[in-house]
Amino acid sequence: MKAVLHRAFGGTDVLELVEVPDPEAGPGEVLVEVRATGLNRLDVLQRQGPALLPGFVLPHIAGMDVAGSIAAVGPGVTSVHVGDRVVVNPALQCGTCELCVSGQDAFCPSVKVVGGNHPGGYAELVAVPATHVHAIPAAMSFEEAAAYPTTFSTAWHALATTARLQIGEWVMVHAAGSGVSVAAIQLAKRMGAHVIATAGSAAKLELATRLGADAVVNNRTGDVVGAAKEVTGGRGVDVVFDHVGPALFQASLFALRAQGRMVFCGTTTGTDATFNLPYAYHFGLRLLGADPYSFAEFGEMIDYVLAGGFDPVIDRTYPLADTAAAQDRLEAGDVLGKVVLVP
Ligand SMILES: NC(=O)c1ccc[n+]([C@@H]2O[C@H](COP(=O)([O-])OP(=O)(O)OC[C@H]3O[C@@H](n4cnc5c(N)ncnc54)[C@H](OP(=O)(O)O)[C@@H]3O)[C@@H](O)[C@H]2O)c1
Ligand SMILES: [Zn+2]
Repeated sequence: MKAVLHRAFGGTDVLELVEVPDPEAGPGEVLVEVRATGLNRLDVLQRQGPALLPGFVLPHIAGMDVAGSIAAVGPGVTSVHVGDRVVVNPALQCGTCELCVSGQDAFCPSVKVVGGNHPGGYAELVAVPATHVHAIPAAMSFEEAAAYPTTFSTAWHALATTARLQIGEWVMVHAAGSGVSVAAIQLAKRMGAHVIATAGSAAKLELATRLGADAVVNNRTGDVVGAAKEVTGGRGVDVVFDHVGPALFQASLFALRAQGRMVFCGTTTGTDATFNLPYAYHFGLRLLGADPYSFAEFGEMIDYVLAGGFDPVIDRTYPLADTAAAQDRLEAGDVLGKVVLVP
């Protein structure tokens, strides 16, 4: 099959379109003919290096969010059939370790992530466990289906499970144009919350408004803290959802109400943030790291999202041969929503 891989860390020139042996569906597995793969920031970070996921090895085929049709089923698979249209849950927990069997599979030490530390969707074929594919509605395109898994599960887990966002609360969502935040804005609205979105350009703020944000503020030129206070009558927002990292960390804490919750899950602007300790403890701020989603949670999320009413916002699609251009676009930061590869 054709695949795009990288044998070394570096710029997009390390990405090579090559011929590699077809993967095979082992016992309990299915072979997915990839029809669309959503790009994520992790693809870029692990191409630049160093790798973020344990167990990552070069050469690596990236691509976490895969949609396609079943090309073959391995021994013992009866739940899925050749030709079924599916989307893949990229987090492949072992299912047998102590944590997996005690309901803490999100922390499985042997987890494999499709496109993260396991061959991914920058390829014509991917083999995954049959338990990790979900049927997609007949009317939904492969491109749309491939735009949901990582961004929507990340936002779902951060807002619903970790921050326990409540109806009527105000949540500030940074980087409104990013894949994760496009999901977060829509999910927060469906949870009955009010959303104040921040981003670095007018086009991204317009997108946020179209997706339902109640208020917007430019986080490069505007006053993020002042805007949070203004929409809440001086109190501060109940929750901030951040995946940008250090760039907005301190401002996010200042934007919160007393005992407000800061839920964070990303490192786009770096891995180390500094903030004023007395301010954080004096106001009883809750700093909530968003841990990985569980197997069960992914199933709930994908059923909910595929049932309709959401827009994953597809920025642009590229053929596999243009993977470098697709990653360049993501890296440049002008993306509105998701960049999708169509192998
Ligand atoms: N923990 C998890 O489970 C998990 C899962 C998925 C993703 N993530 C993380 O979440 C982050 C977002 O992922 P993604 O795929 O949605 O990324 P993305 O679409 O590439 O978006 C990144 C965003 O970062 C913003 N940004 C860049 N530099 C900035 C700065 N100096 N100040 C403010 N904003 C800045 C940009 O916002 P503007 O729109 O304002 O320019 C851009 O839209 C990544 O760090 C990723 O690793 C974590
Ligand atoms: Zn396990």
